[in-house]
Amino acid sequence: MSFDAVEAVRVTGAGPAVGALCVPGDKSVSHRSLLLAALAHGTSTVTGLSRGQDVTHTRRAIERFGVVIEDDGHGRLRVEGPLRHEPDDVLDAGNAGTGIRLMAGVCAGVDGVSVLTGDQFLRRRPMSRIADPLREMGAHVDGREHGQFAPLLIRGGNLHGITYAPRVASAQVKSAIMLAGLSAEGSTTVVEAHPTRRHTEEMLLGFGGRVRVEETRVTVEPGPLTSADVAVPGDPSQAAFWAVAALLAEGGSVVVEDLYTGFGRSDFVGVLRRMGAAIEFDEVTGTLTVRSSRLRAVELTAADIPGIVDEVPVLTIAAAAAEGTTVISGAGELRAKESDRIAHTCGMLRAFGVTVTETEDGMVIEGGAKLRPGTVNSHGDHRLAMAAAVAAACATAGETLITGWDSVATSYPGFMEDLVRLTGVGVAAAGDEV
Ligand code: S3P
Repeated sequence: MSFDAVEAVRVTGAGPAVGALCVPGDKSVSHRSLLLAALAHGTSTVTGLSRGQDVTHTRRAIERFGVVIEDDGHGRLRVEGPLRHEPDDVLDAGNAGTGIRLMAGVCAGVDGVSVLTGDQFLRRRPMSRIADPLREMGAHVDGREHGQFAPLLIRGGNLHGITYAPRVASAQVKSAIMLAGLSAEGSTTVVEAHPTRRHTEEMLLGFGGRVRVEETRVTVEPGPLTSADVAVPGDPSQAAFWAVAALLAEGGSVVVEDLYTGFGRSDFVGVLRRMGAAIEFDEVTGTLTVRSSRLRAVELTAADIPGIVDEVPVLTIAAAAAEGTTVISGAGELRAKESDRIAHTCGMLRAFGVTVTETEDGMVIEGGAKLRPGTVNSHGDHRLAMAAAVAAACATAGETLITGWDSVATSYPGFMEDLVRLTGVGVAAAGDEV
């Protein structure tokens, strides 16, 4: 049976994680492949797209602009750009911060009115970070509580380029500005305090965009895009779950193939290596190889965070099992993710019997813990649910209850089936189908 749509699961720990697998198509690349194909003139093709709900929301949203998408039923999409008109309905990004923020950048460049919204979690996430620069470029952006939260209303068109230094290190903010910059008058530059993932830069070049990257400064020139064929690589952030699952139990050994190899997405490999992990990442083939290892604590600071921003929850499970005290600081941005990932990661660790102290911008984790089964609420956050499932698989005998499991379908349908195959855990649905 599939566990994707069940509200809660019971997981009974078992043996080490052993095996080889491919993970879903990269979520960041998937969103961008749809949006850029929608902006481009001509027919683009996309293979390997993430089947997660986040990306499905972006796919439905671009259809609202009159973009025709055909699915050949064998994993290949044909996308007929460019956008034909303002959206004919509200754009619903679901749970996806990337979806709503990048779409806002696109909408700012569309002559007309767009309304963007999302689920109860997304509607609580900060939007001023994109609303402010898009307004500076000439778009009219409004939203709940003085433009801070979705639903957002954007009246786009007539933009002019700006030079902007975002307050937070965020590829979503950078990308929203760059996408708006495509239809602005003059060039648009974003200057980052810490470098973030460069998918938009890389992919815009593939779609004929004019982009210049100089360390932490990226400049986009306006101009039309041309269609392209995108093969979405595997998602390194999803592979991180299997890396930690392989590390924690004696005899663990996992190979993940066909991962994205570009900038800013595989920093968790370096962090685990600093912790003493036997982990290799082949940057030519995108193959990750991990063997069970004795781990030691690590110190993670602000400069580390943009490169592991999505991997922190599962890395804390590794830290809990490691020798020594792990200190994470400069990670305040995690409070603005799908959930407050500082508070709720601490809650998850405590549920497994780990001693952890929450700080304003991070946490202090006492290592050497024997994880024991517990009850964890994902708070609607897919990465917390999956990190808890990995911890449950590595825990001492007994049963872990994870509620809010259905959030996993936003990014990794089939996660539980992969966990069962690799570790032999016992799983039972404990809640209703949602
Ligand atoms: C993403 C950027 C990151 C990351 C998110 C995907 C992207 O968010 O957490 O999962 O695709 O640009 P921030 O830019 O808000 O850090």
